[in-house]
Amino acid sequence: MKTLNESWAASKRRFEARLAAVYADAKREPQLRLFEAMDYSLLAGGKRLRPFLVYEFCRACGGREEDADPAALAIEMVHTYSLIHDDLPAMDNDDYRRGRLTNHKVYGEAMAILAGDGLLTDAFRVLSASGLPEDRAAACVRILAENAGPWGMVGGQVLDMLSEERELTEEEVLAIQSRKTGCLIRAACQLGVVCGGGTDAQLQAAGRYADGVGLAFQIRDDVLDVTGDAAKLGKAVGMDADKNTFVRLYGLSRCEELIHSYTESAVEALSEFPEPETLAALASFLADRDR
Ligand code: IPE
Ligand code: IPE
Ligand code: MG
Ligand code: MG
Ligand code: MG
Repeated sequence: MKTLNESWAASKRRFEARLAAVYADAKREPQLRLFEAMDYSLLAGGKRLRPFLVYEFCRACGGREEDADPAALAIEMVHTYSLIHDDLPAMDNDDYRRGRLTNHKVYGEAMAILAGDGLLTDAFRVLSASGLPEDRAAACVRILAENAGPWGMVGGQVLDMLSEERELTEEEVLAIQSRKTGCLIRAACQLGVVCGGGTDAQLQAAGRYADGVGLAFQIRDDVLDVTGDAAKLGKAVGMDADKNTFVRLYGLSRCEELIHSYTESAVEALSEFPEPETLAALASFLADRDR
């Protein structure tokens, strides 16, 4: 059996080749500057965690990699749009992302907004070309839309923004984190199950895994904002000092405990899958990540 590193690297190789092809021909269009701006952020690297989750859940349900390609592309396109907009001066006002200048620093704010709009909308075009049976294709669209939009990630970003400069309760912080970060991770896991033709029980279990991993992931992101290394992270640290994070609520050591207990609950959800080893190893790896 492949190790986690081998599986993740193989998924990345497959994914990067497909991602580079999405806009390869678009550069002949008169709006080529837009496609350049989209590719600038899309092809800047990144962990490609969400595509890996799509592929792994598809595989865990007995599906083929080619059935997961469109959903893997679509979720990373939505994630990348969320990062471009998150970095804008009106939002987090960040200068670095994925080891390079942020999109608006290179292309200007208006183009960065439009590059985000382009990626979000085009994700659904790419997803619609999955060739999956109609009921499964429709389920994919619903999962992505519900988790990316006002019920999900966008809703979380709004709560995050509205909560600045005031103390929050644990419940309120959970409401933010589960939406702004958890929802796209949930979409990735559940898209994988649908692409792989998994059962309803597996769809629910993928949701529980994602809930645990998603919270652990954002708490680690907040810890790394305090203790991390900007060169490894590819983005500046200390940017969320005024935000209502778990670090602010509980301090660093309680955060370590929380990350590990959310990770444990994620791993427990994997009992619905016959070969869950890679997904279990991934949850543990993410808990201790430094980038
Ligand atoms: C960063 O996501 C934003 C959060 C949701 C915390 P990632 O840490 O997955 O960023 P990339 O894709 O590797 O750049
Ligand atoms: C952003 O959370 C989550 C998104 C929806 C993009 P953060 O604002 O903490 O993400 P980073 O630290 O800038 O990557
Ligand atoms: Mg933010
Ligand atoms: Mg940010
Ligand atoms: Mg952060």
